[in-house]
Amino acid sequence: MNWSQSLECGYERFDASNQCLLFVLQQIFDTDAECGDRVGCGPRADCGRVRSLLHFARRKFAFEERIMRRVGFPGLADHAEDHRHLLSRIESRSLSRNCEDGMFEVRQIADLWMPWHVVEFDRMFAQWAGGLFLEI
Ligand SMILES: [Fe+2]
Repeated sequence: MNWSQSLECGYERFDASNQCLLFVLQQIFDTDAECGDRVGCGPRADCGRVRSLLHFARRKFAFEERIMRRVGFPGLADHAEDHRHLLSRIESRSLSRNCEDGMFEVRQIADLWMPWHVVEFDRMFAQWAGGLFLEI
């Protein structure tokens, strides 16, 4: 997935953080990237790349939720629930798969989630917040 206008929500801070998430996803899923874990690994419950992705995603979501909380956004609970949904889907991926298959599964989850989340949740916040953008 590449960054395009269809992934913009209209709120600069969220768009920047979504661009960062996409960059991290591209780096993590880069097929030319060497993965130390990959050498000789079979089924792995603790993949370093997935751990890095989850770490970044948790920080990004906490950042967004802090902003929404600060301005009293009434849709915060639903928005945060969709954040948790992505994290739990990645955390509960098929751990019995090998590294390649496991990364393919994580990529599919992220590729489906991101456009959905921007349209259904990030844009809703951007529209609700309107003129507050300059103050937060
Ligand atoms: Fe979000």
